[in-house]
Amino acid sequence: MLDFKFKSSTKKINEGNVTWSSPSNIALVKYWGKKEHQIPENPSISFTLNNCKTTTTLSYSKKENTNNFSFDVFLDGDKKEDFKPKIETFFKRIEAYLPFLRDYHFKIETSNTFPHSSGIASSASGMSALALCLMSIEKALSEDISEAYFNQKASFLARLGSGSACRSIEGDLVVWGTHKEINGSSDLFGIKYPHDVHENFKNYQDTILLVDKGEKQVSSTVGHDLMYNHPFAERRFEQAHENMSKLISIFKTGDLNAFIKIVESEALTLHAMMMTSMPYFILMKPNTLEIINKIWAYRNETNSKICFTLDAGANVHVLYPENEKENVMEFIKDELIVYCQNEHYISDQIGFGANQIQL
Ligand code: PMV
Repeated sequence: MLDFKFKSSTKKINEGNVTWSSPSNIALVKYWGKKEHQIPENPSISFTLNNCKTTTTLSYSKKENTNNFSFDVFLDGDKKEDFKPKIETFFKRIEAYLPFLRDYHFKIETSNTFPHSSGIASSASGMSALALCLMSIEKALSEDISEAYFNQKASFLARLGSGSACRSIEGDLVVWGTHKEINGSSDLFGIKYPHDVHENFKNYQDTILLVDKGEKQVSSTVGHDLMYNHPFAERRFEQAHENMSKLISIFKTGDLNAFIKIVESEALTLHAMMMTSMPYFILMKPNTLEIINKIWAYRNETNSKICFTLDAGANVHVLYPENEKENVMEFIKDELIVYCQNEHYISDQIGFGANQIQL
């Protein structure tokens, strides 16, 4: 049995600071629905993004009174009171594993490589960066922490901040949630995808089309909760297991047509779950559908392997192999950018290499 309890330490540290940069990720098989303690209802897998990152510096200084958590949060230098409740909840959830949290006052200074108001969720990169910083403090206070334990516990903690954040700790293709064909997979933390991945997926491109940069009308916390008593939930959770099995052979053979089917179906299923919950809601915008239809038309005309996926919002992630980069970018600029708010988009690619960096 895994034990993420804090190993007692004899070291005393009065103050210090640590900085981590951590990436965002985009799910191929989606996590939507959870049990208590952020345990996912189904396994999910994601590509780690190279360019969408959060950098967080955590400064800590010993305080006298250990009754409460004490921290301040800054985004790009501005104090953010509205970020505090989420972090307070996070601290409460992880306190049992990091008992030093009440011993220090923390200053959390964070910045994103993508605009905060882009509609891109910063919770995966933000919570994973914070979890990594906290693990660096644990490491400073304890002897003997292996790299494997460090990463696994960072993912375990990040999950308790935001489920998808546990897929942003280690690796470019990350699985979270127990799946019978993926050895070592766990509901408690993300693991590097352990099977073969075909060259076709190397440097896979993701151009994020910013259709709507506003705040989401429905948070993912509310969305997950609506999967309780959802009429299609059980079948959906089974389907995610099946899609994961299919992806294992797709990653091995490099079958991009089969890849497209799974990825687009997962995106539309995620939104179908939203539309069929009670209360129901729609996060796609008219321009989301315009873009999807244009992508389908382009694929029919050109035989391109372009496809799309969606997260819990209106923005579209356009996925395509590296060897199509030039042509697809031309298509995006000519035909899709008109559907983006202020013509904004972000070019990214799947990170093959070190993504998470201690600065
Ligand atoms: O990590 P959360 O609780 O914000 O949930 C994210 C859920 C999706 O982004 C819609 C899907 C996923 O697997 O990332």
